Amino acid sequence: MEVYTVGSKSFTAVAINTAAKAGEWIKLKLGAHAMLDVKSSAQDLVTEVDRGSESLIRNLIRTHFPTHAFLGEEGVGAGANASVQALKEVSGAEYLWIVDPIDGTTNFVHGFPFFSVSIALAHKGEVIVGVIYDPFHDELFVAEKGKGAYLKGKRMQVSGDAKLSDSLIATGFPAGTTSTLPVNMKGLQALAPKVRNTRVIGSAALHLAYVAAGRLSGFWEIGLNSWDIAAGALLVREAGGEVTDTLGRPYSLPVRHVLATNGRIHRELQLELAAADATGYE
Ligand code: IPD
Ligand code: CA
Ligand code: CA
Repeated sequence: MEVYTVGSKSFTAVAINTAAKAGEWIKLKLGAHAMLDVKSSAQDLVTEVDRGSESLIRNLIRTHFPTHAFLGEEGVGAGANASVQALKEVSGAEYLWIVDPIDGTTNFVHGFPFFSVSIALAHKGEVIVGVIYDPFHDELFVAEKGKGAYLKGKRMQVSGDAKLSDSLIATGFPAGTTSTLPVNMKGLQALAPKVRNTRVIGSAALHLAYVAAGRLSGFWEIGLNSWDIAAGALLVREAGGEVTDTLGRPYSLPVRHVLATNGRIHRELQLELAAADATGYE
């Protein structure tokens, strides 16, 4: 039986509409989630809204592109190994959608208004579309490979800060308290006195979008998953910034220890992380 596909659709338009729809629904559920579960640890939260958002996104994308592969956080078992394995299983796909249905679930649960929907499309392993939607502030960040990154129709540009000492920097704390937390804390301890200030708003995707928008000059975090980074990495690059792993090697989908900056402070930040033994690599 032949599969029906809707005609004349752009990848980016589908990503935007899907993120907007999921985001609106999530916003309606703010302060009204019915169920709270834990995954890999007591800090690793999931609600029925995370799962509902992911199925809404999966269904919409499948309607448009039934042959494309799909990797969403809630379809993967808990913990780093399961995430690494799940990405490997779909890495041969020509088109792969990589989705975090709510990035910032802890914020969502506590009513702290910083969370987002992150949708990326990779073609043969390279991200070609990245959309991050923050429904609370109604900010939709969009990037297309080679075409720039945009917020509300305006082209985004990374900040011009040339030194760490002039920079506002962000990091995050993933759920693993024994593995990644000490490394991220070490980095924070080393960097805090060297930068203008640090922020931890609790959504890796939004941190990346803010680097693209020039609101932050850099972001690093040890222990992320592909769905936390993929869309944001394209936003940063298309806004003129740089994205690597914490050793300074080029970004690719399997990267879990990420460093994203305006480019100008990249080397300085990378060297500080290395000097503090805080890259997450042995
Ligand atoms: C988390 C957020 C948080 C980051 C964690 C992520 P989730 O994603 O991005 O800012 O520090 O590493 O796991 O679990 O809310 O989708
Ligand atoms: Ca996430
Ligand atoms: Ca999530």
